[in-house]
Amino acid sequence: MSEIRWIASLVAKCPLINPSLLAADFGNLEREIRRIEQAGAQILHLDIMDGHFVPNLSVGIPVVEAVRRITELPLDVHLMLSEPQKYVKPFRKAGADVITVHIEVLDDPRPLLDEIRQLGAAAGLAHNPPTPMEKSAPFLRDADLVLTMSVMPGFGGQVFDPAVLEKIAYIREHSAPNTLISVDGGVNENTIADCARAGANLFVAGTSVFGTADYAERMRFLTNAAMVAP
Ligand code: DX5
Ligand code: ZN
Repeated sequence: MSEIRWIASLVAKCPLINPSLLAADFGNLEREIRRIEQAGAQILHLDIMDGHFVPNLSVGIPVVEAVRRITELPLDVHLMLSEPQKYVKPFRKAGADVITVHIEVLDDPRPLLDEIRQLGAAAGLAHNPPTPMEKSAPFLRDADLVLTMSVMPGFGGQVFDPAVLEKIAYIREHSAPNTLISVDGGVNENTIADCARAGANLFVAGTSVFGTADYAERMRFLTNAAMVAP
């Protein structure tokens, strides 16, 4: 566990906004990363899609490698893949610090979560809006990060589903104290406080950060909005 002790230091800094590069300008990725670093980001979220688990494609291993070369921020890699077990090693090698896999494609996620940790990364477990809490509930203490999707994964810019707040509250109650409780999809100035009150501490935000002109101002605004007691 020592290699992932940094997770505890990240939890201590929460609430944190986790900017999702999916909404960044990929034609100017280095500039976008510098701007988001200067805006105070402490972590970066990268969405990996296979066109099978989700009806879209995004970026893969070479882009994670490229991002790794230009920033020291922890990279939180969200694998929206039907066969994540085939790819955790190459993504770790590419520089992922957190690797999140979906419960929907794993009967028992524990061996894969263990493998991720053995590779020296933090292990995340994600679930989609229609997936009942009972599916992930037995494994909450096997993950360093639990990611609740508040939209169907595959695209940025969708509308937040408030039904997930109940799941976040359950996770808050049943996970270990140093767990990153993350929410992803439609997180913005209107939805972030409800997520924080429910117990989330790490807020993936794509459009609501990269879709604005002043990233620093927006990161401050969203962070302040998340500073409500659960
Ligand atoms: C959706 C991705 C998200 C996405 C969120 O499939 O997992 O991380 O970037 O985008 P917004 O914040 O625009 O809803
Ligand atoms: Zn994501």
